[in-house]
Parts: sequence; structure tokens; C-alpha cells
Amino acid sequence: MKNIMLVFGTRPEAIKMAPLVSAFRSHADTFRTQVCVTGQHREMLDQVLHIFDIRPDFDLDIMKQGQDLYDVTSRVLLGMRRVLAEARPDAVLVHGDTTTSTAAALAAFYARTPVAHVEAGLRTHDIYSPWPEEMNRQLTGRIATWHFAPTPLSRANLMAEGVAGENIAVTGNTVIDALRSVTERIGSDRELAGALAAELHAAGYDTARLDATGRRLVLVTGHRRENFGEGFLNICNALRDLALRYPQVDFVYPLHLNPNVRRPVHEVFGGPGRQPGNVFFIEPLEYLSFVFLMERAHIVLTDSGGIQEEAPGLGKPVLVMRDTTERPEALEAGTVRLVGTDYGKITAETARLLDEPQAYAQMAHATNPYGDGHACRRIVEFMKKMFP
Ligand code: UD1
Ligand code: UDP
Repeated sequence: MKNIMLVFGTRPEAIKMAPLVSAFRSHADTFRTQVCVTGQHREMLDQVLHIFDIRPDFDLDIMKQGQDLYDVTSRVLLGMRRVLAEARPDAVLVHGDTTTSTAAALAAFYARTPVAHVEAGLRTHDIYSPWPEEMNRQLTGRIATWHFAPTPLSRANLMAEGVAGENIAVTGNTVIDALRSVTERIGSDRELAGALAAELHAAGYDTARLDATGRRLVLVTGHRRENFGEGFLNICNALRDLALRYPQVDFVYPLHLNPNVRRPVHEVFGGPGRQPGNVFFIEPLEYLSFVFLMERAHIVLTDSGGIQEEAPGLGKPVLVMRDTTERPEALEAGTVRLVGTDYGKITAETARLLDEPQAYAQMAHATNPYGDGHACRRIVEFMKKMFP
């Protein structure tokens, strides 16, 4: 029996690691599976733990309001010292490019415990874009023994950095496993779908507006550090002007809890008469409600990583409010388009998709390169081979 530990701390890592926790737990004859959450996110992490019914074995509970990168790195590193000494795992699995992942990988290395990196090999090759994620994933990749690359391109990136082919498995992205399980749950349970619609209504957006009147929905999310300040102000100004120009379209923006994301919203939309009636700011949604809403969206405007992988799986064109992407497969497949945080580009590209059915159809019908929903099974099989 081998002891393995999955470590994660933010909302997207939790969504992408949740199906892997259950995949390992269904091999209880081979693996004793423990979960350590860092709590880098608190409320947004707990929302995911709740949906997937995960009770962590360890919780470092590190989040502080306004934490910076030094806070997160040092608190995870020190917290993991105690957890690793107590749990003594044979391998630690971390995910992607957050500071939780890199600090946990470093902590495991200090304990001489091998690290497996899930969602490995994504690169922009610009260490400041996205910041600090590009450096985080490069460092984690350097520490890791095993690498689970979502696509052949991410495998090639790792090989170009000297990683041996036998230590890499191309698995697809586990987010597609998570998304599939959730869309199946929603699609097969009318009561659940009704409850999600009611939840959204309570959160401030009534999806019946769409069903009843043929209105279209533009779903918006944003949180990247490099967009703080001017970038978010441009995004908000673009949203405001688009909403005024298209009164038949609803713009729904579940706001990340980071205060840097909320400030520009108050600046642009605060004050009497500043917020058009077809713009809805709501609190971060639980994953099931978010997927329910994404299924109803016409277009997604985001700077998120995970949503660039999910939305195309639902046939939704994505305009990415970033200058670079570590997901060029999606660009090539035509499912996403980069618009940066430039006011003119955001408004022009959104208008094009709203006004030109052909441009819309081209993006909506492209195929999603991020997997077939069996990434977790491949990861477990690989780990079984490593621990015969
Ligand atoms: C983090 C990750 C980023 C990832 C993103 C996903 C790092 C450096 N950044 O960025 O890679 O894409 O999560 O969303 O690892 N907050 C709350 N409650 C929550 C979550 C956040 O109040 O549940 C607020 C707190 O004030 C916190 C702040 O948001 O201090 C920033 O959180 P942090 O995890 O440091 O950065 P994110 O921008 O969320
Ligand atoms: N998401 C969610 N509720 C929301 C907004 C997003 O559950 O209100 C999900 C989304 O479906 C995706 C993940 O959160 O799986 C993306 O998280 P985020 O954009 O914060 O991080 P990134 O992927 O950029 O690291």
C-alpha cells in the first residue's frame, strides 16, 4: 500500500483535483489517499469541497485578506513541514501554477518526497505573463519527478526542457473530467436544474429572462494580477458601453473575492444611474451553478485559465482578456481569441460575435483540444505503474 497526498488550495485547483481524489480513492487496494488543503482561498475553496463532498485530512488554513506572494509562499512552506512529517506520503501530487502548488512542491522536495505535477508543461515562456503563474509552473516542473501533460504540446514543452519522456504522460485535462461529471448531474436531474436556477435567482440573476425572451447572455469573469488597476478599469468601461449598446443582451459577472477585482467595478459602476439594468454583478458561484450558467451563455469573456478549457467543451466562444495564453491549442482550434485588456478590442470582438452569426458559428463549432474526460483514470494508471 502506498501513501499518496494531493495538495491544493485555490478554487480552480480544487475543481481540477476533485475528480482525481475520487479516482485514487476508488483504488483503495493500492493507494491510501490523503488530501491536504492549504486554504490559500477560503470561501471559494470551501464551495468546491462542498460540491464534491471532500473532507480534507489536513487544512493549513493560511488565507489572510490582502495576502501577498510572500505570505502565501512562506505560510504554505512552513505548514507543509508539519503535515509531511506527520503523514509521511510516498508521493505528493500538486496541480498547475498557483503559489500553493510551487510552495507545496518545494516542501515535498525538502522532505525528499517525489512530486507528481498535474497539468504540467503549460508555457507562455514569458515569466511575467501571467505573473507569477508562469514561473510557478516552471519551478514546479523542475521539482517534479512525474508530469501529467494535458496535451502533446505540453509534453513537447517539457521534453524541450530536458524532462525524460518516460516520466511524462499525456492525459488530457482533469477539468474535462470534472465538467463532464457536473453536466451529467445537471442534465439528468430536473430537480437539481431547478434548484440551480433558484440559486442563481437568489444570487441576483434570473435565467428565466433568457428562456422567456430570447435574450442572450455574455458571462464575464476576471482575476489576474497583471490586469489589476488599468486593465480592470478598461474591462469595466468596455462592459458598461457594450451593455448600453446592446440592451437585449445580459452581462453577468460573478465577482472574484479579491478586493483588487472589486475596486474598479465600484469606480465604473458605482453611483446613481451608472449601472445599466442589463449588467449583473453577483458573488462567486458554486461550481454547479457556474456550469449551469455557462451552459446558458452565448459568449464568455474571461482572463481565467480553467474557463478557456471548459467553455469550448460546451461550445461557447471565449474572448480571453489577456495578452498571452499558455493554452495555444485552444487558439489554434479556434475556440478562443485573445483580446487583452484593450477597451477597443474587447468591445469590437464582442460586437463581432454578437452581430455576425458566421463568425460566431466558426468559434462555437470548433473542437475542444483539452481531453475526453478520462484524464484521472490515466493518471491513476500511471501512478500504479510507478508503484508496482
Ligand atoms: C490565485 C492564484 C491564481 C489563480 C487564482 C484562481 C497565486 C499567486 N494566484 O489568485 O494563480 O488563477 O487564485 O482564482 O497562486 N479571497 C477571499 N476569499 C477567497 C479567495 C480569495 O477573500 O475564497 C481574497 C482575499 O482577500 C485574498 C485575495 O482574494 O487575500 C487574493 O487571493 P490569492 O489566492 O492570493 O490570489 P488570487 O488572485 O485569488
Ligand atoms: N468558477 C466557479 N464559480 C465562479 C467562477 C468560476 O466555480 O463564480 C470555476 C470555473 O468554472 C473554473 C474555475 O472556477 O473551473 C476557474 O477559476 P479561476 O478563473 O478563479 O482560476 P484560473 O482557472 O484562472 O486559475
